Amino acid sequence: MKFPKSVNVLLLGSGGRENAFAWKIAQSERLAKLFIAPGNAGTKSCGTNVEMNPTDFAILKQFVISNNINLVVVGPEDPLVKGIYDYFMDDNDIMNIPVIGPSALGAKLEGSKDFAKNFMIKHGIPTAQYKTFTKDNIEEGYTFIDSLSAPYVLKADGLAAGKGVVILDSAQEAKQELSDMLSGKFGAASSKVVIEEYLSGIEVSVFVATDGKSYKILPEAKDYKRIGEGDTGLNTGGMGAVSPVPFCDEEFMEKVRKSIVEPTIEGLKTDEITYKGFIFIGLMNCDGEPKVIEYNVRMGDPETEVVIPRIKSDIIDLFEGIAFGSLKSRELEISEETAATVVCVSEGYPGDYRKGFAIEGLDQETDSIIFHAGTTTEGKNVITSGGRVLAVTSFGKSVGEAVNKSFKTIDNIDYKGKYYRKDIGKDLI
Ligand code: AMP
Ligand code: GLY
Repeated sequence: MKFPKSVNVLLLGSGGRENAFAWKIAQSERLAKLFIAPGNAGTKSCGTNVEMNPTDFAILKQFVISNNINLVVVGPEDPLVKGIYDYFMDDNDIMNIPVIGPSALGAKLEGSKDFAKNFMIKHGIPTAQYKTFTKDNIEEGYTFIDSLSAPYVLKADGLAAGKGVVILDSAQEAKQELSDMLSGKFGAASSKVVIEEYLSGIEVSVFVATDGKSYKILPEAKDYKRIGEGDTGLNTGGMGAVSPVPFCDEEFMEKVRKSIVEPTIEGLKTDEITYKGFIFIGLMNCDGEPKVIEYNVRMGDPETEVVIPRIKSDIIDLFEGIAFGSLKSRELEISEETAATVVCVSEGYPGDYRKGFAIEGLDQETDSIIFHAGTTTEGKNVITSGGRVLAVTSFGKSVGEAVNKSFKTIDNIDYKGKYYRKDIGKDLI
């Protein structure tokens, strides 16, 4: 099975990740029309934005039928966890339209930490030791905390808008947190809590494309999560990213392939989990040994803004391989250059922030790619509409060269309350 000669694509989502996907899809000679739902001001220059909610499957169905869509690409996790893949597969009218992403069962690798940990242990994938607790065995949870040494890692089982992981230094605080979580601190998402061993090391994000049988490892990336320079302050969605990551040499990546990627793909097969999409493996390099921190069932943001630009081959060919089970025979050509992205956010983010400020400097002449994240249009102006506003990506022969190009481009961009980290990539230089 293949796509027709020219392909109509519907891309779901509205962030920097989706602008990067849209930018790449728009470069494919195989593209007929690209629609982005709902998109942002940046995706408008790659295709047509459509006001639709990515989790309103009935509306999406009408749209794909009336616009002869041949492929649906899902950016964020929400529609996947809510079962968009199965919704299409179970409906005779749209079952032939491939959705890039896992089935609802596969999406539990991100949607339930307990499910993901069980999967890892069952398939011998290295990860932190853990136990899962509910209200019914909270006392055992306290005992388990006493058996571990500090720091203590507690995770709400379900999706908690990126806030469900809490790391604490004292057993007393950890016990209090366990009690708070099980009493509904994160609603239903924390009715189960995973407590696990703390892993120390350097984090890296590894991305894998799979058709459920074979896989391709995409470029890896390092993400900068904290709001403040020197990795201080609150956690954010991500303030920047770099790819490739210098410590991920051939030897380390071979360990990742053998001990993590292959057993993950084999595990999906053994457990009959339908998965045609991207797997984002958050892992810790613990003295040269990779251990999985978490799975996500989508690409990362802002990692996509460095991973996708490094892919030289056609992305619709890649999607075709994923969708129709022919990934193994597809060529994946990767640029040797370093890509870095620096995220510009709104003042106050990740706490409260204001929106609606006009952004200047988007039409400057630059070598960088200015991906939009939280932007929208108001008349002729592009205005801020989110916490993360732009992701400015540049290439270079080194991390330093790439980030410096992004900083230069950002100097010529202005909006009220612009903030970005000036130390992105500096730890890798
Ligand atoms: P997220 O799940 O992305 O909200 O963030 C979880 C973050 O917590 C990870 O990116 C790690 O930095 C950290 N983390 C999660 N699990 C562990 C662990 N077992 N040991 C150390 N750090 C962890
Ligand atoms: N950058 C981390 C994420 O996308 O979850």
